[in-house]
Formats: sequence, C-alpha cells, structure tokens
Amino acid sequence: MSKKRIGILTAGGDSPGLNAAIRAVGKACLGHHGFQVIGFRDGFRGLAENRSMALEGSQLSGILTQGGTLLGTSRDKPHRMLVNGQLADMTDAIARNYEENGLDGLVCLGGNGTQKNALRLANKGLNVIHLPKTIDNDVWGTDMTFGFDTALGIATEAIDRLHSTAHSHHRIIVVEIMGHHAGWLALGAGIAGGADVILLPEIPYAVESVAEAIRERSRNGKPFSIVAVAEGALSLEHHAALKAAVGKKKKVGAETELVLASRTLRLSEQLQKLTGLEARVTILGHLQRGGAPSAADRLLATRLGTAAADLVAVGVYGIMVAAVGEETQPVALEEVAGKIKTVPLEHEWIASARRVGTNFGD
Ligand code: F6P
Repeated sequence: MSKKRIGILTAGGDSPGLNAAIRAVGKACLGHHGFQVIGFRDGFRGLAENRSMALEGSQLSGILTQGGTLLGTSRDKPHRMLVNGQLADMTDAIARNYEENGLDGLVCLGGNGTQKNALRLANKGLNVIHLPKTIDNDVWGTDMTFGFDTALGIATEAIDRLHSTAHSHHRIIVVEIMGHHAGWLALGAGIAGGADVILLPEIPYAVESVAEAIRERSRNGKPFSIVAVAEGALSLEHHAALKAAVGKKKKVGAETELVLASRTLRLSEQLQKLTGLEARVTILGHLQRGGAPSAADRLLATRLGTAAADLVAVGVYGIMVAAVGEETQPVALEEVAGKIKTVPLEHEWIASARRVGTNFGD
C-alpha cells in the first residue's frame, strides 16, 4: 500500500506555536507513521496556486521555538480569493491541486476563519483536519488555542512595565490588547497584570463609570490607573451606533469606521478630561503575536499536532482536534465552524476580577 501523503497549511493571523504545530504534525507523520508530508505556502492561496515545499526532517528541525510560520500565511478564502484583481471562487482549483498532489489528507492550522474554510473544503470531499490556533482563544469547541498563552505572557509583562510610568507620573495608562470579537486576552492579561479597569467587547462600557473608578482610586491615594482595553471593546454609544447601522443593514459608514478605529485614543482623551489626570495610550498590536512560543503553547501545539497525525492514520477527517481538559478530542467541524467563543458574562474570571475591585465599565 503506498505511503499516505499529507498536506499542511497555516492560515489567518500568524501566532506563536504555529511552527511547533507544523513540527509536531510533520515529525509524527514522517517518523511515527511513515507518511509523506508537503507544506503549502501562504494559507489557502498556496494550495490554490499549487505553491508548496517539501517538509522533511531538515525543514522540521530547530523550529519548535521559532515564532511565525515557516510556510507563510494569508487570510485568503478559497471561495472568495483575489485573482488578477477580481474575486474568484478557487475551491475547484484547490480540489484539483489536492488531487494532483495525491493528498490523502490536509491539515489546516488556523482560527475561526480557517475553521469555516476547512469545513467548506470538507463539504467538497477533501479529507480535512483543523488545528485551533489564535492568540484570541475565541475558537468554539476547544478549551484553548495555541498562541493564547504566549500572548497572555507578552501582554501581562507589558502591563507590568506600564505600571512604572503610571505611578511615577500619576497617569492613566490605556493599554490596547488584541481581541476583536472576544476579550479573553484582555481579561486574562488585565487580571494577571493587575489592571484597575478591564474593558471587553462583551461588556459595552460607560466612560463615566470608568472615570469614577479612576477618581475613586485618586481619592484613596492612588492617583494612577491602568486601563486594559480589548481592541474590540465599545462604549455604550458606539455599541448602539453600530447596532443601529447593522440593524438597518447599512454598511458602517467611513466616519463611524474612523471613530471606531481611533476609539482607544478617544477613550484616553475622555478619561483625561473627566478625571483631570494625564492619560497616555499604548497599543500592543502585533507584539502580542511575536517571538518564541511559551512552554505551554509548545506543549499544546505538540499535543494537537501529533493527535492530528494519529487521526490521519485511522482516517478520521472533517474534524477539529480540540484540547479538552488533559485530553485531545476530535470535534466535528460542522458542529463548531462559524461559532465564536466569547467570554460569558458570568465567567469566573470576570467574577474573580470584580472581587479584587476591577472595574469593567458597567
Ligand atoms: O486573529 C488574531 C488577531 O491578532 C486579532 O487579535 C487581531 O484583531 C487581528 O488578528 C489582526 O489581524 P492582522 O494581523 O491581519 O492585522
């Protein structure tokens, strides 16, 4: 019987742990199962354009600790891909290249978008396995995604360092943390870093509530505060404006987009005005996705990647490999694709933060 041939691609935003996961899938396929492995470049675009690279021992060694992805990535979608300036459905091209490369299975490393694209290809008859990757930790059906723990450490250390300026200059430091739809990263780093205010996409905030919490701290002899704000957090006004725009099926106008884009700066100005304290903004951005993965992310990526190779060996496809407690479990893509794991309002992390006096703008 000929050796199984497995394709790997990384799609969506890069994140720490991607190379660790590529290494795990590759080494387990090659060394443990005797399969062949081929890497496709730049996400689904590389498969659509048939751009690949061999993944053998040499390419897989020394990458466990490397940030980013040796395959490259993109946010290109198989069914809506820009080709010669036009949006084209490249699903058939992908299926053709999958066949022409003699693939028995395709392992897609990515977040929510990748999960939906993996299901689309599974519905086209491709044997697909998805591994949950994102610093946002917002993939439904898995306890954790690789990338989150490393970003949590980076954002926490940033908050630790920002305390120096805050208490030296008696300032408000507003630190923007990644997480568009879900506030896991801002919540976790805010708690770990001891932020006085944490603003989440899940809890539209009242600026006055934030300002009063900061004024209260000043009255109690602490004329400085750290405000950890998720990039997707919205004030009550912005939340209402967005809902109204979406409600009327109107595209959010350029003016609203501009206001939304600069909302962290706007929040900082408002707080400065309302409290009389100087305010400064730090936007952590892609720092949170850079550099070597944490030990926990290397461990998680290795567990998920080797589990994917084992599932290929027994022909289980159309699934995400989920981390569930101490185990890994195959979860049907049709059950999870399209869902986003946001922070439940009653989550114990929120309750715990409130108990140490953290304000959530509500
Ligand atoms: O999905 C992960 C993420 O880092 C989000 O937290 C962030 O909003 C987004 O990617 C940024 O995307 P890009 O790297 O394409 O600017």
